Amino acid sequence: MGDGGVGRRTFLAAMTGSGAAATAAADPAADPAAAETADGAAGGPEAEIRALVGRMTVAEKLGQLQQLAWTGATGPGGSQTASAEQAARKGELGSVLNIFGARHSNALQRIAVEESRLGIPLVFGLDVIHGFWTTFPIPLAQAASFDPEVARVDGEVSAKEARSNGIHWTFSPMMDVTHEPRWGRIAESCGEDPCLTSAFAAAKTRGYQGGDLAAKDRVAACAKHFVAYGGAEGGRDYNTVDVSESRLRNLYLPPFKAALDAGCATVMASFNTLSGIPAHANSHTLTEILKEDWEFDGVVVSDWNGVGELLPHGFAADGADAGRIALTAGVDMEMVSTHLADHGAELLASGRIKEDRLDDAVARVLRLKYALGLFAQPYVEEAEAVPGPTPQTRKAAREVAARSMVLLKNEGEVLPIGPGKAVAVVGPFADSRDMQGTWAGPGGEKFPPVTVLHGMRDGAGRGARVTYGVGATKAADVVVVVVGEGAKLSGEAASRSDLGLPGDQEELIEAVAATGIPFVVVLLNGRPLTVGNWVESASAVLEAWHPGIEGGHAIADVLYGKVNPGGKLPASFPRNVGQVPVHYNHENTGRPYDPKSPGNTYVTGYSDVERTPQFPFGYGLSYTTFEIGTPKASVARIGAGELRRGETFEVEVSVRNVGEVAGDEVVQLYVHDPVASLVQPVRRLRGFERVALGVGEAKVVRFVLGAEDLGFWTNAVDGRFVVEAGRVDLYVGSSSDARSACTIQVD
Ligand code: NOJ
Repeated sequence: MGDGGVGRRTFLAAMTGSGAAATAAADPAADPAAAETADGAAGGPEAEIRALVGRMTVAEKLGQLQQLAWTGATGPGGSQTASAEQAARKGELGSVLNIFGARHSNALQRIAVEESRLGIPLVFGLDVIHGFWTTFPIPLAQAASFDPEVARVDGEVSAKEARSNGIHWTFSPMMDVTHEPRWGRIAESCGEDPCLTSAFAAAKTRGYQGGDLAAKDRVAACAKHFVAYGGAEGGRDYNTVDVSESRLRNLYLPPFKAALDAGCATVMASFNTLSGIPAHANSHTLTEILKEDWEFDGVVVSDWNGVGELLPHGFAADGADAGRIALTAGVDMEMVSTHLADHGAELLASGRIKEDRLDDAVARVLRLKYALGLFAQPYVEEAEAVPGPTPQTRKAAREVAARSMVLLKNEGEVLPIGPGKAVAVVGPFADSRDMQGTWAGPGGEKFPPVTVLHGMRDGAGRGARVTYGVGATKAADVVVVVVGEGAKLSGEAASRSDLGLPGDQEELIEAVAATGIPFVVVLLNGRPLTVGNWVESASAVLEAWHPGIEGGHAIADVLYGKVNPGGKLPASFPRNVGQVPVHYNHENTGRPYDPKSPGNTYVTGYSDVERTPQFPFGYGLSYTTFEIGTPKASVARIGAGELRRGETFEVEVSVRNVGEVAGDEVVQLYVHDPVASLVQPVRRLRGFERVALGVGEAKVVRFVLGAEDLGFWTNAVDGRFVVEAGRVDLYVGSSSDARSACTIQVD
């Protein structure tokens, strides 16, 4: 991590390179205090920020910590348009979310810059999660590509479209690791693994931010939700989380560290409690870990009404208490609720909040605005607003969607569909536009997606017939049944207690099965589903997720074999909902299931369902076959001390395409420490590479491993990472069931 030229230091450097000194709005340099700089750089951004803070009234400072919502609500509070204008005019507003459009945002910015006393520009935020105009597949789908480059591309395209339309800041990437398919927000996540999630979090951050936040085609990213939101009990959104320090540090925190190392400018607090302390009130995570240990100097924004929610949590007595607790814990900006703005002056006067904490929070907000170049150029060029998707961005979305699909089953090689075959496309999602996914941007409505039927018709070769509807199936060589769950069934506040196909879709599949015609099930969904008995009768199953604007074309590309599917599952698919949580990176019990003694009932598991998931993490088929060799470590032993000093070793393995068409394999490396002072997961993904191989082609894949891969965080609250002596097993293969292994001895 950390390459790509956008490390955290570069985030600061970007401020200096952004023309921040020449402010079009506030001119802190006009203040003599600006000359006296603690960092010794007269006129440097930090000096300017301090000087500006020095000129601000308490109300103006508190205003910088306030973010109000323009339109659209994702929780209690609704639109605050009128109050936003008023506050901007008084110079008592830092940010607005949910405003977009170059003209609209310029009009509001003009009020802040031209009518307020200090003319400090506003920063505009929006949830640009998987596309602004050009809707890419949902993040869970992107993770299935096992190719972080797809997230970078989405980030880059989204940033360009959003920034030109007045957005400076996206509340993305979401990086909540979760073992809960019932949790609707798994759709926004990268699934169940911290290593995969970290790689995507870093890549998406780079895509959004590039090397210079002030550039016209970049936006600030936001690492969310800090932290452990994905641990929601029962998968119910916003629910309680209670985790050990080691689980917090080994499972939930790594993606945040990776995003920050990639330069991520901001962080959002999460709605959940964490072992009894709401995340918005958690000084251990927000201040000790994030700001002190990791030296994060950017903005921590609350989630929507997250400060206000300290009251229903039962953690704050009233609004003033909520504001005090959140600011003191480390929240810098309050989204939607207004407790700091309302009570901050009285809290300060009575000594219940400290002036230096207040000034630090204000400085963080101003630092973001400098980095974005807003003091130099607060407005967006209206004539340059990107009006919609282009052929290039559509092409990118199509490639990403096809790359994200996972072939779950392909018996009798019904796929790819050969030339000239008569195809019937059926099912409630066959010609549905409900495939954009949980958090499509403004483009989701304005630029509808290519449906599967449309895509199949475009993709069919000359003379091939594609018909629509169950009635057409009799004459078909193959039936494509398109089923799934609508976008509203996943995402925020969309948890489900049942993971089957909603409604009568299973009956539809059974009816198609009864015709005896080979059929392919295409799944459009935002979470792992339980596939039920129908999976037995289907010839093939393609997991296409919510694939976005070019979804229909991408599905046709895969079904007709123009693209050989190479995606892998980023989360295990359970056999039934009662099995949840079922994930590959679990720990062993003292009575683990032993496949060599299947009759032994005194082992962990259920008596009415197999121990394993239906489809494991990392699983996915191809139209070709690969052989993965035995891994070899470059050394047989290595000292724990050497590892701690930064030494690394390599594990290499060969992979060969032994089938009849070109294709991609994702070579995955897992570690297991069989004896440790803290019980370790049975497998931990520590490396992966998606390799494209022509027929007969082979490649050697090399993974570089170090302390981070072999050690773990203990339960010490002050954070202790250990690398212990002993044997470590290294598995390499095409899924989390990888069997090919070697070992390394740590001395
Ligand atoms: C609530 C969600 O939890 C968060 O992810 C989002 O960024 C905010 N609402 C703003 O819409």
